[in-house]
Amino acid sequence: MTDRLGFGMRPEANGAAEDEPQAPPPLPPDASVDLARERAESQVDDVLDALDTELVGLAPVKTRIREIAALLLIDRVRARFGIDSGRPNLHMSFTGSPGTGKTTVAVRLAELLHRLGYIRRGHLVSVTRDDLVGQYVGHTAPKTKEVLKRAMGGVLFIDEAYYLYRAENERDYGQEAIEILLQVMENQRDDLVVVLAGYKDRMDSFFSSNPGMSSRIAHHIDFPDYEPVELEAIGRLMMEREGYRLSDDAEPVFRDYLERRRVQPRFANARSVRNAIERARLRHANRLLATGAPVDRTALTTLHADDFLSSRVFTP
Ligand SMILES: Nc1ncnc2c1ncn2[C@@H]1O[C@H](COP(=O)(O)OP(=O)(O)O)[C@@H](O)[C@H]1O
Ligand SMILES: [Mg+2]
Repeated sequence: MTDRLGFGMRPEANGAAEDEPQAPPPLPPDASVDLARERAESQVDDVLDALDTELVGLAPVKTRIREIAALLLIDRVRARFGIDSGRPNLHMSFTGSPGTGKTTVAVRLAELLHRLGYIRRGHLVSVTRDDLVGQYVGHTAPKTKEVLKRAMGGVLFIDEAYYLYRAENERDYGQEAIEILLQVMENQRDDLVVVLAGYKDRMDSFFSSNPGMSSRIAHHIDFPDYEPVELEAIGRLMMEREGYRLSDDAEPVFRDYLERRRVQPRFANARSVRNAIERARLRHANRLLATGAPVDRTALTTLHADDFLSSRVFTP
């Protein structure tokens, strides 16, 4: 990668590049640093608070992200004393079913890592196999490198990463993409975090067939399916943010809807909740227009039982 700019805080780790900013001289050994102030200055709590308030549940995920934030913050303070801990490896795997919050957390993670100076830009580039792997000989390397270039300074999120590997075909071009990714992941100085995402069982078998990849992953984070009460809370949160509420008679119907939807095909956790609310909004709007009556604020913001009951979820 040509745009491997330095990581200003730790010039030692960057080799001899001359055009990089000089770090200030280290603090004397008897100095002390106000951690609360460091923390406030990094504005990392904004991101952690956003993660807490915008996502229901996911306690273990949130804890791990907080731990990583603490590590990077302490690393920064250590660097000011001239203690070089080396850049921690932060490549991760996010396993879980669709709609369990993997992409949302990755976006926040990118922002967090940026605020803590670990990556320069803090954007997220989300790709799948087709973005990395070509159809013909010679097409894969340029595609993968182009994606890597775009992702530099941010987080590269590879959804359903196991599709890169086809056990039945040794000469599959996916292997070439894996090898290029590995080189970049191995190079601790590259300004990039790779997150491999997908179903847990498939990811497990991908890692057992690709031990090199597995060994480059520092954090395996699992996103469990949501419990019914969590789905309900997610729904409430979404409605609240969009300026809607449930009427009293819609409360049990919404719960019933989620119970039924959960066991139907193609259920996608929080994404299905979002879709349910979007369709209810549609019915609500049509209902209001159809009556032709004047509307007040309550009417405009209240979803009724009917707005859910006409869903296919209720037809046997
Ligand atoms: N725990 C949660 N609380 C609130 N909303 C959530 C939660 N998890 C996911 N969502 C929402 O559900 C949708 C799908 O989430 P996403 O991060 O794309 O899931 P994934 O990447 O795992 O498929 C997004 O709109 C997201 O904001
Ligand atoms: Mg996703």
